[in-house]
Amino acid sequence: MKQIVIEGGHPLKGTITVSGAKNSAVALVPASLLCDEDVMIDNVPDISDIDALEEMLEYLGAKVKRMNSTIEIDATEIQNREIPEKISKKLRASYYFMGALLGKYKVATMYFPGGCPIGARPIDLHLKGFEALGAHIIEDGNKYTIKAEELKGSNIYLDMPSVGATINIMLAAVKATGTTTIENAACEPEIVNVATFLNNMGAKIKGAGTSTIIIKGVEHLHHAYTEVIPDRIEAGTYLIAGALLGDNLKIENVIPEHILSLLQKLKQMGVKMKLEGDTITIRNSDCLKPVHITTGVFPGFPTDLQQPLTTLLTCCNGKSTITETIYENRFLNTKYLNQMGANIHLKNPDCIEITGPTSLSGTTVVATDLRAGACLILAGLIASGTTTIQKVEHVLRGYENIIEKLSNVGAKIRLEEIK
Ligand code: EPZ
Repeated sequence: MKQIVIEGGHPLKGTITVSGAKNSAVALVPASLLCDEDVMIDNVPDISDIDALEEMLEYLGAKVKRMNSTIEIDATEIQNREIPEKISKKLRASYYFMGALLGKYKVATMYFPGGCPIGARPIDLHLKGFEALGAHIIEDGNKYTIKAEELKGSNIYLDMPSVGATINIMLAAVKATGTTTIENAACEPEIVNVATFLNNMGAKIKGAGTSTIIIKGVEHLHHAYTEVIPDRIEAGTYLIAGALLGDNLKIENVIPEHILSLLQKLKQMGVKMKLEGDTITIRNSDCLKPVHITTGVFPGFPTDLQQPLTTLLTCCNGKSTITETIYENRFLNTKYLNQMGANIHLKNPDCIEITGPTSLSGTTVVATDLRAGACLILAGLIASGTTTIQKVEHVLRGYENIIEKLSNVGAKIRLEEIK
């Protein structure tokens, strides 16, 4: 098991460069299966989720070459077979193999995916989308066999704008006969990244990034290149670190339009920032004002940033609240923040109240999920004394080189392997 040890209180000065977006890259890699030739993806983050996807591709017989942040994939001669649950369980995004294999071979056998324990996270909308395209689904425990004689374009309305379902239906529809319309589609930037990649291959997708996506089926998808967009959640996490301890900390390779909701809230709190192109300079601020956050689908406040932001809210003068509207179990970090000295209580099942300012003291805590782990790393950076965060495998899934990136700007942080 891996743990991170942090000695708190050191200011952060210098530059952190944001890597490629985890939640784009984990969709782009499986999307490569659809191509009838080889593909190249650049700016892929070096995180364990990508390792797991590479393992799944190679299990199917794809040829994968990773050179630094570039990945070349040739999936032209794969054997479409059931992927063992022990591999697909490693991450939520394994479910994109369903849409890609169905879209290319009209059959896919996959297990229910893994992912952070932040809610039930059903995949009913994905399956309904596949059925609308003509697939039949046999559920055997948590194994799904999805088969279609023919995939025919259809009008699909998503009961809620699910990111995963939007992308998965797109993958299944790009080679279907006829036109598919996805109504109430998710609008996250990662969806545009995937649609652009597929269009580079010759797909005909319009409207990605809006709530109506139109996909005209094509027969052939040719060689393509694409680049993973910068990770807006990683960018937001390091901006929050800058608001806590920044001494004119620079965060570069940011697309401000992807995190306007966070920038607006930080400004409301009184955080001092300077935006210059793709670089934001930020410094820690005293007497921060409390704010009220309600998470929502893009361009609303991202659910993935509410846990990291909780650490900053413990420093505000007064009562802040976070209302979580996307997941039903995404406050697991607050127990550990309270152990460190925070004053957080549950106002109702989907709302916490954070009373500040409180000073945090180092202790041993546990990362229950990816973004809870990020929250606790931020807490360790400001806590007095030493903080040990256990089970940080969760964090290494989604933040490339987080130890190096923070150490390079002055944090006293190290990774330990314990038996
Ligand atoms: C993606 O998850 C991200 N993960 C999540 O990031 C992110 O929190 C989420 O989108 C929302 O932005 C990846 O992209 C790998 P959803 P996804 O489908 O696709 C319910 C992180 O920290 N739902 O938009 O699973 C679901 O239970 C991770 O990087 C259904 O009910 O999110 C949840 O409550 C965490 N039925 C809500 O919708 C379905 O068929 C949002 O899910 C699908 C989803």
